[in-house]
Amino acid sequence: MPKVTGLEGVVAAETEIGHVDGERGHLIYRGYWAKDLAVNHSFEETAYLLWYGALPDARQLAALEERMRAARALPEALRRVLDALPAELPMMGVLQASVATLSGIASAGWPPSAAQAEFLTALLPTVIAYRYRRLRGLPPVEPDPSLDHAANYLYMLTGEMPNSDHAKALTAYLILGMEHGMNASTFAGRVTLSTQSDLFTAVSAAIGTMSGPLHGGAPSEVIAMLEEIGTEENAEPWLRCKLENGGRLMGFGHRIYKTKDPRAEALRIVTERLTGRDHAFEFALHVEKTAIRLLEEYKPGRRLYTNVEFFAAAIMTAIELPAELFTPTFTAARTVGWTAHMLEQSAHNRIFRPLSVYTGPMPAIGD
Ligand code: CMC
Repeated sequence: MPKVTGLEGVVAAETEIGHVDGERGHLIYRGYWAKDLAVNHSFEETAYLLWYGALPDARQLAALEERMRAARALPEALRRVLDALPAELPMMGVLQASVATLSGIASAGWPPSAAQAEFLTALLPTVIAYRYRRLRGLPPVEPDPSLDHAANYLYMLTGEMPNSDHAKALTAYLILGMEHGMNASTFAGRVTLSTQSDLFTAVSAAIGTMSGPLHGGAPSEVIAMLEEIGTEENAEPWLRCKLENGGRLMGFGHRIYKTKDPRAEALRIVTERLTGRDHAFEFALHVEKTAIRLLEEYKPGRRLYTNVEFFAAAIMTAIELPAELFTPTFTAARTVGWTAHMLEQSAHNRIFRPLSVYTGPMPAIGD
């Protein structure tokens, strides 16, 4: 039986972009605490930090905002592709196809550029909103240049001016989702880019990697779990039954964090501020507490705590984002981190080419 390691503990690259300390529960973006950036800085400022290495001054920020606002409009060729994709294709597949399409219609090629990263990040919310509304027979809502990134996303989804608390909470979530070290999708994106693929093709590979339930697909499953549990009294029997049957509790556990995930902690505070400890929030806290106790009982010593997805689900429910858009929204945020990593990879590129250890049979050696 081959030994399965999932590359645990393997260093795949040096990076100046983000640092995850799983023992201390630290998440740092280029020298700043991610949790502070999430509440004190805008989406655009934090994206600038990740792409360019320092927070922007007022002039640099205004110029970035201007460029990103201009990049929100859906290119006509992409609109035609979106209209032609089958209605059954999940939104993650739509994003993957859209970004792959851009490699043909935007000025792609090697090396990748920060301008491409800005363009793609600015455009993805428009793609999601256009497709979401089209499948419901609703007319598209053109981007509003007076709104910032998060507020404009909510506006393009609903056609209504967003509540500013919702936009603020979404901004905090998007910032906390931007970057997370050498996670599976960032690794996949860097590997693809290392072959001198263009940035759009590499992001498309990262989106495919992000779509699985063990990575980016968990938040909608957290909602499904909370809905199935239904009441506080049912939490313990439901969670016990799941663990007895070898099931995984969505929104718990992490390869790196062996203590509280700092993103979960930050989002818990943002959710509490937004909802004012309403019934749904109290219920989520009860499920969290029960799950952590039972995980320690069924998986002693594994140190399984709440991860980012648990409160991501709570926050996105509170701002009334449909569950099917949770993972695509996470993807739109993580595009910033992916593209920052791709720019870094291209500056010191060497193709990724690890080894495997062959454990199969050998042919007979001749006499
Ligand atoms: N529920 C129940 N048991 C769990 C869980 C969980 N959520 N997570 C890990 N375990 C157990 C697992 O069964 C194993 O037990 P044993 O030693 O008896 O075989 C042990 O803990 C170690 O698990 P692992 O699969 O080796 O851990 P990993 O580092 O490969 O997996 C993970 C990390 C996130 C995939 C996993 O914790 C998981 O599946 N969590 C649920 C899905 C989820 O919430 N995903 C979102 C992750 S956060 C987003 C991101 O940063 O990408």
